Amino acid sequence: MKSASGFGPVLGIESSCDETSAAVVSNGEVLAHVILSQDAHQEFGGVVPEIAARAHLRQLDAVVEATLSQAGLDAGVLSGVGVTAGPGLIGALLVGLNWAKGFAWARGLPLLGVHHMEAHLFANSLESPGARPPFVALLVSGGHTLLLFAEEWGRYELLGETRDDAAGEAFDKVARRLGLGYPGGPEIERVSRAGEAGRYTLPRPMLSGRDSPADPAYFDFSFSGLKTATSLLAAELEAEKDVSFEQRVPDLAAEFQAAVVDTLVGKVIRAVEWSGCGRVLLGGGVARNGILRSRLEIALATRGGELFAPSLRLAADNAAMVARLAEHRLSLGERSGLDLNADPSLAFPGLGRRDSNAPRRGANLGVTCTPN
Ligand code: KG4
Ligand code: ZN
Repeated sequence: MKSASGFGPVLGIESSCDETSAAVVSNGEVLAHVILSQDAHQEFGGVVPEIAARAHLRQLDAVVEATLSQAGLDAGVLSGVGVTAGPGLIGALLVGLNWAKGFAWARGLPLLGVHHMEAHLFANSLESPGARPPFVALLVSGGHTLLLFAEEWGRYELLGETRDDAAGEAFDKVARRLGLGYPGGPEIERVSRAGEAGRYTLPRPMLSGRDSPADPAYFDFSFSGLKTATSLLAAELEAEKDVSFEQRVPDLAAEFQAAVVDTLVGKVIRAVEWSGCGRVLLGGGVARNGILRSRLEIALATRGGELFAPSLRLAADNAAMVARLAEHRLSLGERSGLDLNADPSLAFPGLGRRDSNAPRRGANLGVTCTPN
């Protein structure tokens, strides 16, 4: 059962945070996929690492079994195993990694440890054949905010990243401050529907019109100041007696969401203009945000660009993206040894920082990637 890539079905395992997931991917297509989300963390207002690791341990066997039976596949037809090796919670990562190692070793299958954020990038290619390099990518999750340019798979130029909180982390912390549940992103999006952005004013960090691409921070993000500004505004509103704070929350949440989205969209447009590349891939949990998706889509369409955003299921943590990335790298001959270890702060493979003194890519290097 070999695919065009010369590789048969690949089993992917994801356990970096609070989703236990397994998937089988063959030739870029999902044959089976199971995601088990752990709700045990909600009452604690965040992921409890020890609970996450123990839940992965309890659930992983059954999740893989369900995945294989969904695909109607015997484990014997698999050609490789891919697993998230980092970044993530160390205990949670170790469960998936050691499971994958044991499984691969017992069946004599090639094993590959992959990077969780690179896997988010590959999620798009499972649904859209056009989501391929060259492209600009915005990866926004609970731990990362990365803006990059990819000339080819595996070779990435880091344009910008957050200097403090990740975008998803800011959503989670502000939601907690506003008395909303966890995870904060979907909660902020939900209550914002009853509110209106612009009733209050929050800053749009690092988006001054005076910035220039020669500035090393031109594409960088910062959400910590916005979080503090939201908290100070919340304190002022809590002190007002005429209207209850709860009634203010939708407008405040909507303005916070608009501030994050304006910043993310503004930086993506900078990257598109600088690179001359209008093909944009979105990934990570925050890519589930409807306002971000629609604002990006419009901003790109008016510039002749095109947005690739994964479906809601593939934007969240999942093993299909892990299997897809592993399939790609395994078919290039890459392998991990049985000494593979989990690394909570694993470096993004092939990622190099942009040289802000280098010439503008779009103008001088002639990169074109108009949508097809
Ligand atoms: O990629 P992900 O599922 O896990 C990590 O790799 O971190 O991302 C989780 C993050 C959380 O911070 C969560 O609040 C955020 O994604 N998120 C959202 C939405 N759904 C999830 N943020 C904004 N709007 C959403 N609808
Ligand atoms: Zn993730």
